[in-house]
Amino acid sequence: MNQAREIGIIMNGASGRMGYRQHLVRSILAIRDEGGFELPNGERVTVRPLLVGRSEQKLAELASRHGIADYTTDLDAALADPQWEIYGDFLVTKARSAALRKAIAAGKTIYTEKPTAETLEESIELAQLAKDAGVKTGVVHDKLYLPGLQKLRRLIDSGFFGRILSVRGEFGYWVFEGDWQPAQRPSWNYRTEDGGGIIVDMFPHWNYVMENLFGGVRSVYAQAVTHIPERWDEQGERYAATADDAAYGVFELEGGVIAQINSSWTTRVDRDELVQFHVDGTHGSAVVGLFGAKIQPRNATPKPVWNPDLEDTIDYDATWQQVPANDVFLNGFRQQWQEFLTSYVLGTDYPFDLLAGARGVQLAEAGLASSASGSRVELPTLSLR
Ligand SMILES: NC(=O)c1ccc[n+]([C@@H]2O[C@H](COP(=O)([O-])OP(=O)(O)OC[C@H]3O[C@@H](n4cnc5c(N)ncnc54)[C@H](O)[C@@H]3O)[C@@H](O)[C@H]2O)c1
Repeated sequence: MNQAREIGIIMNGASGRMGYRQHLVRSILAIRDEGGFELPNGERVTVRPLLVGRSEQKLAELASRHGIADYTTDLDAALADPQWEIYGDFLVTKARSAALRKAIAAGKTIYTEKPTAETLEESIELAQLAKDAGVKTGVVHDKLYLPGLQKLRRLIDSGFFGRILSVRGEFGYWVFEGDWQPAQRPSWNYRTEDGGGIIVDMFPHWNYVMENLFGGVRSVYAQAVTHIPERWDEQGERYAATADDAAYGVFELEGGVIAQINSSWTTRVDRDELVQFHVDGTHGSAVVGLFGAKIQPRNATPKPVWNPDLEDTIDYDATWQQVPANDVFLNGFRQQWQEFLTSYVLGTDYPFDLLAGARGVQLAEAGLASSASGSRVELPTLSLR
């Protein structure tokens, strides 16, 4: 095996839910523990994480649990040290833009969770700052790497659908209020003043999913609702849930596809998976989830006839065909980290950058504006100077 080039990565917020499980354990440590990975040019690359956070004790515990040599509570010192080439940000959304500004000013390559900022203006400013500083950036687009969505990508590329007409997405599950059973998500998610809300959380995801699979979003009509106005936090204290916990959206896409996506933390699951997209095309339809994908080509489409007097004898479930994986899919966060590191080392363009992240924030902001005004909101094309 070739000697691997080691890339130093600042992991800010490594103790958080996403920072720990997906970015540290499933991505960076998985890469490190396998001795790195090979680039298309045969070069090997591996990673060295520096854990950054606010609690020295938590960081020390994490570092010893995973055999990590480096941790610090001093972000400025980490940014000033050239051995750390990449700055990774997994902080709560509210803390992100201040940290990204510092990292850009320090000339670091940036890799960050979404949303990239709390407002469109700030997310564009960050993208502009990075461009002016000549800094490479990457923003998490993890849903595109779900096995189900990779199968969907294949279906689209193979021409299976003919002309795609519409997409219906259902995302969500019941998030416990926290009184008689602890909530399974952090309480800040349910407080607008702390950067919470299902639109700011999920619309950035739906933006890159639609943009990369069906067409960029041209307009949105959305209704954001707070169905459960009171919840209980991590300490068991009752708090006012000020943020939207469900959003019902209709999106008009470039090329004419219409997408409808429901996002909800206040629905009980009666689907195969926690997210599901139903895509209808002239030549076939597909239903895809996190892992699964099933199809119905036009040649195998049953012919239902509406008759309320007769029981329907068609077994609709049986009219769909499963799509095989035919491949081994890596954890999506890891796959994207590897692609970003590959692009960083080889100096190639990286499409999922801070401007792509800003488009996600733009959709979230437009969704909230639509909900407040009750009207459809157009999305102008964003560009940098
Ligand atoms: N890609 C995805 O699927 C996905 C899923 C969930 C969350 N997220 C995003 O990931 C980010 C983190 O979410 P999470 O669920 O892991 O949250 P979390 O609350 O579990 O973790 C947040 C981290 O930020 C740190 N932090 C909190 N307040 C801070 C402050 N004021 N200054 C500095 N650090 C602070 C915490 O110590 C913790 O390490 C959010 O921006 C969220 O939108 C992405």
